Amino acid sequence: MELLNYDEICASIEPENLSRLAELKIFTEIDSTNSYLLEQAKLGAPSGTACFAEQQTRGRGRLGRAWFSPFGANLYFSMLWRFPETALGVSSLGVALAVMVAQVLHKYGIQSGVQLKWPNDVLIAGRKLAGILLESNEPNSVVIGIGLNLDVSTANEKNWIDLLEVTGRPVQRNFLAGLLINELLAKLPNYAERGLRPYLAEWQMHDVLFNQEVVVHTPVQQIKGWMRGISERGELLLENENGLLQPFCYGEVSVRLDPVLGVRD
Ligand code: BTN
Repeated sequence: MELLNYDEICASIEPENLSRLAELKIFTEIDSTNSYLLEQAKLGAPSGTACFAEQQTRGRGRLGRAWFSPFGANLYFSMLWRFPETALGVSSLGVALAVMVAQVLHKYGIQSGVQLKWPNDVLIAGRKLAGILLESNEPNSVVIGIGLNLDVSTANEKNWIDLLEVTGRPVQRNFLAGLLINELLAKLPNYAERGLRPYLAEWQMHDVLFNQEVVVHTPVQQIKGWMRGISERGELLLENENGLLQPFCYGEVSVRLDPVLGVRD
């Protein structure tokens, strides 16, 4: 697999978007690109500070899970973004970002089969291709962490899929990395102004759980119901067994198909 290269990544970022990239670092090894940018945020790093790592020794996923991060195999990316005070909450940002990742895959040549699973998983054939971790340690600033599976063959995890398997060809890592940064730099300013609305139709097109019978897991309870899509704030809308529509925010919540077969995170 090709190693990450600054110039090659920047070659696929449009000039207008490149001007919003405050800094791009490529680490050979780091504990977690998200942890690094959370520290940088505290030190006053500007919006648009970004990094990749070839390997993470303590890559983190949602819900306190570890994120499989071997050397040179996948993309581990984080970007710090600072929003104006009025920007919307984290549920809607996660949804918008999942749609952005789907658009990146489309631009890379994957024309069909991409599925989105609330709050922000990207799947193909019901298996996880990419995950997003949003973290914040300051008001109006968020660290966006994206893990994109390019070759997870060494993991032996049947619930994951990678681009090598999807395309059947060696992955153009730098090109894909550039597309990803380009998409975020193009869309995030607009998101701050217009919120989730421009993303809702595309989310609905790819929403793998829509109208499915699911179980929502929160730290205190498990609630059965039917997935009825998402709200304009990016909340999951569950129709519970009493017919009431209950919204759930991004956070300590996960959702699984009921019975627990097929799509899970
Ligand atoms: C998930 O659980 O689905 C979210 C996974 C997010 C993984 C990425 S890899 C780059 C960034 N750094 C981390 O430690 N985690 C995120």
